[in-house]
Amino acid sequence: MKPVKVGLLGLGTVGCGTINVLTRNGDEIARRAGRGIQVVAASARDLKRPRNCDLSAVRLCTDPFEVVNDPDVEIVVELIGGTKPARELVLAAIGQGKHVVTANKALIALHGNEIFTAAQEKGVTVAFEAAVAGGIPIIKAIREGLSGNRILWLAGIINGTGNFILTEMRDKGREFADVLAEAQRLGYAEADPTFDVEGIDAAHKLTILASIAFGIPLQFDKVYTEGITRITREDVGYAAELGYRIKHLGVARRTEQGIELRVHPTLIPQRRLIANVDGVMNAVLVKGDAVGPTLYYGAGAGADPTASAVVADLVDVVRALTSDPENRVPHLAFQADALSDIPV
Ligand code: NDP
Ligand code: HSE
Repeated sequence: MKPVKVGLLGLGTVGCGTINVLTRNGDEIARRAGRGIQVVAASARDLKRPRNCDLSAVRLCTDPFEVVNDPDVEIVVELIGGTKPARELVLAAIGQGKHVVTANKALIALHGNEIFTAAQEKGVTVAFEAAVAGGIPIIKAIREGLSGNRILWLAGIINGTGNFILTEMRDKGREFADVLAEAQRLGYAEADPTFDVEGIDAAHKLTILASIAFGIPLQFDKVYTEGITRITREDVGYAAELGYRIKHLGVARRTEQGIELRVHPTLIPQRRLIANVDGVMNAVLVKGDAVGPTLYYGAGAGADPTASAVVADLVDVVRALTSDPENRVPHLAFQADALSDIPV
């Protein structure tokens, strides 16, 4: 069978990581997907910029709409980030009946309700595993692994850049700005790093997790959001002296009044597992009524870990493409016609 043809929007950290993983593990991925997966077209703003991936077999252009409109392209992978032009690109792909994979949490948190409704109308999949906690398959874990549970709460470290900064300040006494600059060099940070350090990126991710865990619409504006910019090396040091660690957490919890959503720095006793999640690693605790507490751990950012999640989504989409259409399972976060509106 011929490989499935993919168009990639964005050739930055995650875009090139995705090409590298698809190239390196191509045979195994094809076996698992039932067909090969080939990137045939890709876009970036500056085609002269050196890239960390082999693009010799890829048609390149600067206009991402050209990739979306390419008749060869069956699946569009959006790895540009932000909401403009990402929203228009994703809606255009859906409009053409193309499946979409994205790592873009801002897009899903702010425009997911519109995007999933459009996808449902067109009968296409929008998959977004890489949008939360990098390489940890947390979307799949909640949606599939815990589908028999009533989720009671979830809490986690869901921004790798912030956790890297807090860890380096504590262990090496480094300056906040110096560590943030390193996180940017390593490709962990958002294009606008204030999203990482002001808690906005974590709030986007919490919005998505809560929607899946509690079956509520995406409601980013309901998240109480506080970042780590006011945390000093002294704060981190005093916390350690008292037997605590400062971690930036996202928390979503069922209460009698509705779902509570918040992201903020938290003092955690050093003996707790989550207090020992360091560097760019993320961890998410999810408590279901049947299973009890569960814990998911792994790299929260970076080229290869994020590409791992993007490629897993691609494999899922290709499997669905090759399966009996009558038996396809939708990949939406929730059924648009089954939205509950629990006050947040
Ligand atoms: P990068 O900034 O490294 O790459 C973005 C790519 O998109 C670049 O190739 C850039 O072109 C292109 N681009 C940027 N703006 C535009 C535009 N307006 N029009 C067309 N093309 C554009 O981002 P990342 O790879 O780090 O992130 C991509 C997505 O993945 C984001 O949504 C991010 O939040 C998400 N993500 C990132 C993770 C990470 O660890 N980096 C982890 C999980 C999710 P050029 O290269 O020419 O500038
Ligand atoms: N900037 C994000 C982070 C990338 O540091 O967690 C992964 O979503």
